Amino acid sequence: MIDGKKVLFSGMQATGNLTLGNYIGALKNWLELQDEYETFYSVVDLHSITVRQDPAELRSRARKLLTLYIAAGLDPEKNCIYYQSHVSGHAELGWILDCFTYMGELNRMTQFKDKSAKHADNINAGLYTYPVLMAADILLYQTDVVPVGKDQLQHLEITRDIAQRFNAIYGDVFTIPEPYIGKTGAKIMSLQDPEKKMSKSDENLNASIYLMDDKDTIIRKFKRAVTDSEARIAYNEEQKGIHNLIDIYCACTKKTPDEVVKEFEGKGYGDFKLAVGESVADLLNPLQERFYQMEKEKSYIDSIIKNNAEKANYYAQKTLRKVQKKVGFPEKIR
Ligand code: TYM
Repeated sequence: MIDGKKVLFSGMQATGNLTLGNYIGALKNWLELQDEYETFYSVVDLHSITVRQDPAELRSRARKLLTLYIAAGLDPEKNCIYYQSHVSGHAELGWILDCFTYMGELNRMTQFKDKSAKHADNINAGLYTYPVLMAADILLYQTDVVPVGKDQLQHLEITRDIAQRFNAIYGDVFTIPEPYIGKTGAKIMSLQDPEKKMSKSDENLNASIYLMDDKDTIIRKFKRAVTDSEARIAYNEEQKGIHNLIDIYCACTKKTPDEVVKEFEGKGYGDFKLAVGESVADLLNPLQERFYQMEKEKSYIDSIIKNNAEKANYYAQKTLRKVQKKVGFPEKIR
C-alpha cells in the first residue's frame, strides 16, 4: 500500500514496434486502472539486452516507448513512468532472487524455450534468468496487481512462487502479486496465422498492426487477414481468425462478442474486416497525433524521466533495504 492505495506494476520492452496486441492486452487496461492504484509503469530496458540490440536504436526506442505511455493517456503526474535502468534496485534484487530460484523452475519457462530456439547463437544467462528479473521488478514495489497479456502468466506464477518461498524463510517481506487479465483481448493473434500470438518480432509485416500504422495500412492489413471458408461471423474456437477479429473489434468498440455477431448477421467477411479496420484506425489515430506532438516536448519528457526515476528509486530502496537486512548483508555506515 502507498498512501492507502494498492500498488500496480507493469512494463513493456522497447524492442521492435509496439503492436495492437500490446495495446489491447496491456496498455488499454493500464489506462483503465490508473486512478484506482498507485502505479509504476516501466520501460524495461534491462530485459531488452537479453537479445542483442543496436545501442542507439535501443535508446531511441526506449524514449519513444516512454513517450507513447504518456500519449496513450497515462498521466505522468499520477503514474510513475520510468526507465528500469534508472533504478538500480531492479538488478540488485534480481541477483538476490536468483539465489532463491531453482534451475528446474526456469527450465520450464516456455518463453525461454521459444526465445532460445529463435536466438540459437546467443542463449545467454540473462535470457535464462529473465523471469527472475521480472519477479524483482514486481516485488520491488510491493505490488498487488500486475496487468499483462496471457503470454506473461507463467512469469507471474514464478514471481508468486519466489515471493512465497522468500516469505516462508524470512517472514512477510513481499506482497504476493495477482495478475490482472482483461476480459477480452488477453491474447491477440497474428493476422496471418491465428494460431500464433501477434508479436513485435514477426517477420511478416502483414501479421501485426503496429501502433504507428496509418489508416490505409491498417485497413489493408485487415483486408488480408487470414480467416476461413465458413462465410459466417460467429464466435467459436473453430473459426480462429474470425474469433480474433471479433476480440479486436470488441476491444475497440467496447461491444460484447454477442452484440458483434448480431450486428454482422448475414453480412460478409469483407464488410466485417472493413469495420474492424476502421475501429482500430479510430482508436489509434488520436494516440498517434498525441505521440507526434509529445515527442517535440523534449524538456517536459526529460523532467518526467528525472522526477519519476527519483520516485521509483525511493520505493525500490525501501524494499531493497528490508531484503538486504533479512538475508544478512551488513548495514551501510552513513
Ligand atoms: P512485452 O514487451 O512482450 O509485452 C508487453 C505487454 O503486452 C502484452 N502482449 C499481448 N497481449 C495480448 N495479445 C498479444 N498478442 C500480446 N503481445 C504482448 C504482454 O502480455 C505484456 O503485458 N516480460 C514482459 C515485460 C516485463 C513485465 C515485467 C511485465 C518485464 N517485467 C513486470 C509485467 C511485470 C514483456 O516482455 O512484455
